[in-house]
Amino acid sequence: MELKELLPTINGLKGVIDIPGDKSISHRSVMFGSIAQGVTKVTNFLPGDDCLSTISCFRKLGVVIEENENELTIYGNGFDGLKEPDEVLDVGNSGTTIRLLLGILAGRPFFSTLIGDHSIGKRPMTRVTEPLRSMGAQIDGRKDGEFTPLSIRGGHLNPIHYQMPVASAQVKSALILAGLQAEGESIIIEKAESRDHTERMIRKFGGEVQKNNRTITVKGGQKLIASDVLVPGDISSAAFFLVAGAIVPDSEIVLKNVGLNPTRTGIIEIMNKMGANLEIYQEEASSFEPAGDITVKTSSLRGTVIEGDVIPRLIDEIPIIALLATQAEGTTIIKDASELKVKETNRIDTVVQELTKLGASIEATDDGMIIHGGSTLTGGTVSSHGDHRIGMMLAIASLLCKDKVVLENPEAISVSYPNFFNHLNRLKK
Ligand code: S3P
Repeated sequence: MELKELLPTINGLKGVIDIPGDKSISHRSVMFGSIAQGVTKVTNFLPGDDCLSTISCFRKLGVVIEENENELTIYGNGFDGLKEPDEVLDVGNSGTTIRLLLGILAGRPFFSTLIGDHSIGKRPMTRVTEPLRSMGAQIDGRKDGEFTPLSIRGGHLNPIHYQMPVASAQVKSALILAGLQAEGESIIIEKAESRDHTERMIRKFGGEVQKNNRTITVKGGQKLIASDVLVPGDISSAAFFLVAGAIVPDSEIVLKNVGLNPTRTGIIEIMNKMGANLEIYQEEASSFEPAGDITVKTSSLRGTVIEGDVIPRLIDEIPIIALLATQAEGTTIIKDASELKVKETNRIDTVVQELTKLGASIEATDDGMIIHGGSTLTGGTVSSHGDHRIGMMLAIASLLCKDKVVLENPEAISVSYPNFFNHLNRLKK
């Protein structure tokens, strides 16, 4: 097992970080480049393990993709250009890859098998396999299509009219991608607004999708045209340094090129509500994906309640928000977040278990957690549990610990932020 020793900071964190490309948008750039007609160039692509899994799956489906560090060239031939893969499609640790890919494969008249790692094998798939079956795809898998391995034979699809039972951008996107291939108009109603990168990307690639509050309408039979994509930095990666800058004494960090899509900025709203010292310089509004720079300075924070419609807009940031709350004055309550139980790990349990080891006062609830602020963090051996965001949250926690922290399985961090420790060490100097 890999171990990493982490030492507290003596001085504050200072410097400028270029935030790496957004994971959700990087995945979608590969998918849309592959199903569009023509050559798509992607800049500031995130070469994290998850997005590399997406590239590998599309190569097996016959798409030529050239990679040069953070740049991709994708030679798309439309939905019809995808071919039956000779090999099993391995999505690694990536829920976005498997769920969105199922939406694409639902309309393809060939057979594929999908597998992933140990964590993927525990993540619920019925949320996509059931509505895709109702559109006409033949899907099988362990526990009747709830878990990997899954097999899918796609083909002719009927449109769907679907009220989503969970707030999930992955489910919404899978159904939109299937809807693009169906005969007729699909209507998908979201439970709460979730990230809209798929909708934005359809428009960027010359397609049409309507959005009226939480109702999304998409016509089948659309042809997408290649379009160059500049991926903004990932606010979910920036989140670790936003919190680090706020809680480590004597800090001032500038985060460059952070994606500021309003369906992703829940963490900024909550940090502002907690009293964080943030300044945001938004670049000229872009109809594709807005971005800007954020400066964060050491802040005095107060506890808050996080619940309701903001949850899907900060779902991936909850582990690091939990750490933030340990350093606030008063109690923070997180509710309506039972989806955390079916992420890369059960993030209610892993956050509570690991922060408790470091001396935090935190309790799990059925749909979130209660965090009592003002904790002095100690030190000890903690584990990422193979979950990138748990690993990064613990590395940020170690900055404040009185004693040394040993992190088990730090390599999981490369799923979304391969340069994380380089960036962190740069700020410590
Ligand atoms: C994602 C959607 C979210 C998020 C995940 C990425 C996406 O998952 O947690 O990290 O790219 O669409 P859910 O759709 O399961 O909420």
